[in-house]
Amino acid sequence: MTMARSITTFSFALLASLASALVLLVQAQQNPGFISIDCGATLAYTDERTLITYESDEGLINSGKIRQTSRMLTYQNDRQLLKNIRTFPNGARNCYTLRPDQGKNTTYLIRATFWYGNYDGENQDPSFDLYIDINYWATVDYSYYRFEEIMYVPKADDIQVCLVNTGKGVPFISALELRALDDGIYRLESGFLQLHWRHDIGRSLDYDDVRHPIDVYDRIWTPQNYKFGSIINTTSAIDVSDNNDANKYKVPGEVLRTALRTMSASSRLDIQWSPSKSGKKWIVYFHFVEIERLTSGLKRVVTVSMIDNNFTKTVSLEYLKPVVVVSPQVDWSPITFSIDSTNNSGNPPILNAVEFYTVGDLPFVPTAQDDVKAITDIKATYHVKRESWQGDPCVPINYTWDGLNCSYENPPRIISLRLSSSNLTGGMVSALSHLSRLEYLDLSNNQLTGTIPETLAGLQNLTFLNLSGNNLIKSVPEALKKRILDKTLNMSLDNANLCLADHCQQKKRKKTIIIAVATSVSGFFVVLSGALSIIWLIKPKQIAESSQRTLRSKHRPFKYREVSRITKNFGRVIGEGGFGKVYLGTLDNGTLVAVKMLSESSRQGYKEFQAEAQLLMILHHKNLVSLFGYCNESKHMILIYEYMANGNLREHLSGEVKIHPTEGHSQVLTWSNRLQIAMDAAQGT
Ligand SMILES: *[C@@H]1O[C@H](CO)[C@@H](O)[C@H](O)[C@H]1NC(C)=O
Ligand SMILES: *[C@@H]1O[C@H](CO)[C@@H](O)[C@H](O)[C@H]1NC(C)=O
Ligand SMILES: *[C@@H]1O[C@H](CO)[C@@H](O)[C@H](O)[C@H]1NC(C)=O
Ligand SMILES: *[C@@H]1O[C@H](CO)[C@@H](O)[C@H](O)[C@H]1NC(C)=O
Ligand SMILES: *[C@@H]1O[C@H](CO)[C@@H](O)[C@H](O)[C@H]1NC(C)=O
Ligand SMILES: *[C@@H]1O[C@H](CO)[C@@H](O)[C@H](O)[C@H]1NC(C)=O
Ligand SMILES: *[C@@H]1O[C@H](CO)[C@@H](O)[C@H](O)[C@H]1NC(C)=O
Ligand SMILES: *[C@@H]1O[C@H](CO)[C@@H](O)[C@H](O)[C@H]1NC(C)=O
Ligand SMILES: *[C@@H]1O[C@H](CO)[C@@H](O)[C@H](O)[C@H]1NC(C)=O
Ligand SMILES: *[C@@H]1O[C@H](CO)[C@@H](O)[C@H](O)[C@H]1NC(C)=O
Repeated sequence: MTMARSITTFSFALLASLASALVLLVQAQQNPGFISIDCGATLAYTDERTLITYESDEGLINSGKIRQTSRMLTYQNDRQLLKNIRTFPNGARNCYTLRPDQGKNTTYLIRATFWYGNYDGENQDPSFDLYIDINYWATVDYSYYRFEEIMYVPKADDIQVCLVNTGKGVPFISALELRALDDGIYRLESGFLQLHWRHDIGRSLDYDDVRHPIDVYDRIWTPQNYKFGSIINTTSAIDVSDNNDANKYKVPGEVLRTALRTMSASSRLDIQWSPSKSGKKWIVYFHFVEIERLTSGLKRVVTVSMIDNNFTKTVSLEYLKPVVVVSPQVDWSPITFSIDSTNNSGNPPILNAVEFYTVGDLPFVPTAQDDVKAITDIKATYHVKRESWQGDPCVPINYTWDGLNCSYENPPRIISLRLSSSNLTGGMVSALSHLSRLEYLDLSNNQLTGTIPETLAGLQNLTFLNLSGNNLIKSVPEALKKRILDKTLNMSLDNANLCLADHCQQKKRKKTIIIAVATSVSGFFVVLSGALSIIWLIKPKQIAESSQRTLRSKHRPFKYREVSRITKNFGRVIGEGGFGKVYLGTLDNGTLVAVKMLSESSRQGYKEFQAEAQLLMILHHKNLVSLFGYCNESKHMILIYEYMANGNLREHLSGEVKIHPTEGHSQVLTWSNRLQIAMDAAQGT
């Protein structure tokens, strides 16, 4: 049952990831490096003009509702892309996750398109915020068709585009596109580039925008004519043979073959604008290429400068060879760039294309990637469907996932996870042990099955663990027991399941054995060797005469003198354990006892001695020898157990033990008994 369920869970997760991998793969084959999503569309289709194949967003996002823009308005925007949208009436933050093949540290063009299209008949444009991963990108508050576009270098392989409800209407989105750019172009030391205008200068306004497939990166170049000077164009092919910086930009020939040229060599081309928002830094990319055949020996030399000469860059143009001039970041108003032609050239300045960006800040640091991966696994495995479980788990602080608490260091870490009463089914996923800074874990009141992973004990900072109200296998792994006894962990597990008591020993034995063996073969060996190392503590089942007998001992302190007496001055050594020698003793009522004395050279120390004493005081079981008492007098640390007359487990396992020494034949444990012992030891039953 349990196993079947966890396998199903696993295959669902696998299927889901295969399915999404498949989606992206199909896309990648059609438009390598592209992810193109028509939000709210139900079917994939290829746009005839751009030859881009758009996918439906179903399966990429769990939240939101599909709506249709007004058919009355579609004459304005008859593009398929704008006919459907996805709206997000619920949740403060809703995110799409993009997983491009190229992964992190690649520049991506990311474009989010919006057209309200009066889909709700309210004629009221909503206003909401757009985030790229954890950082603010833009506020969307316009009714006309518009897109927000950035050049972004992600820090993680997954990229999240989030719509944040700011209380001014329902967020929506029409389309989401990602294009991977090669060669580290459009890359800043820090921050991202946010597009304002991208102009194809000198192109007649009668022409459409240039984009894919003409632009391999699907940048959208808008024809622009600055209305002074004259337009020049050529039909000659642009020379892209050089492996220089300019050619890395792969600006299409169609864009570069048109240009604006001023009237004379002495007139300059001024570009001036007044940014509406102050405080933003601007960067301008100027694209030049000589498209006129000049008299031989002459070259056009152009200088791009700022009015106060804080920035000047002079380039000499060669026939049909592109040149890119990137401005520094400037942040005053108005901004004026001048393009001059230097005197020795004798030819007027030209400009072929230009791009204007502002610099977006990335002030926030995402949650540690290992934590993100682990919590994403947990979310997928248990099908956690919570509105807030989207985007980064910890950041921004206002959108921390419900049930998590984080520590806001650099990077932020997940320190507590509360998933009680959340309908979790299946086994305890190993990802839980990967939240390495976890202090608090509450998984109570779910239908969790299977074993409690020992690896939880490796969570150094974990101080609270509540597993009550589940159907977990009744065994607390040794390492966790140790943490509990060391008082570094408070753990709750309902008694019926913890099985530290005797009454649950017979329940569903067959089932648990199958599961334990099948789920953890290596765990089995660990357990087995663990059992051997505490060898003489465990009473072979076969020898425990009355299996229903309760061995509740009344342990009490012994004086060293008393111990010395009952062992006849430590006269008879019957074994040697991890602590030291074990002696035979006889209590005043005639009961035989094993007296275990911590030796001075003991490998296990005082702490372990205490731990064992405490464990045995709370653990009572037919297969565990019970503790009669202890002695803790200055140097003398002694445990007194019930005596097992029939030898120790190792002897039984190896067949050395002679049950009836006088009859001289040894009785070796059967394999099924051995397995049972190992299982019982493992489960603590
Ligand atoms: C990221 O990519 C750039 C350019 O491709 C490269 O110079 C840099 O070393 C890379 N950084 C990391 C951390 O991989
Ligand atoms: C190139 O110039 C010619 C003549 O001026 C004009 O007819 C044509 O439309 C121009 N081509 C483009 C792409 O602007
Ligand atoms: C130009 O540079 C100087 C010094 O580098 C600086 O003080 C001045 O503010 C700059 N001008 C503008 C407009 O930024
Ligand atoms: C260009 O020529 C003009 C007039 O001949 C002169 O005033 C100016 O200084 C020259 N500029 C340069 C950069 O040589
Ligand atoms: C977070 O929430 C607080 C209180 O609701 C608000 O004042 C603050 O502006 C929010 N911060 C962000 C980044 O939204
Ligand atoms: C997170 O911290 C808050 C405030 O300290 C606390 O009330 C809440 O219970 C914590 N949640 C979890 C899941 O630990
Ligand atoms: C758990 O499942 C039940 C029944 O399917 C449902 O009514 C309940 O809302 C679920 N609880 C949570 C927290 O998902
Ligand atoms: C553990 O969870 C159970 C069920 O939610 C609850 O009754 C119990 O109080 C919790 N234990 C602790 C120590 O919080
Ligand atoms: C968490 O554990 C690490 C060691 O793993 C330790 O350095 C750190 O101080 C602990 N933090 C807290 C809050 O206990
Ligand atoms: C366990 O709980 C007790 C009682 O609430 C508390 O005193 C102790 O500090 C807790 N131990 C840990 C490791 O948090």
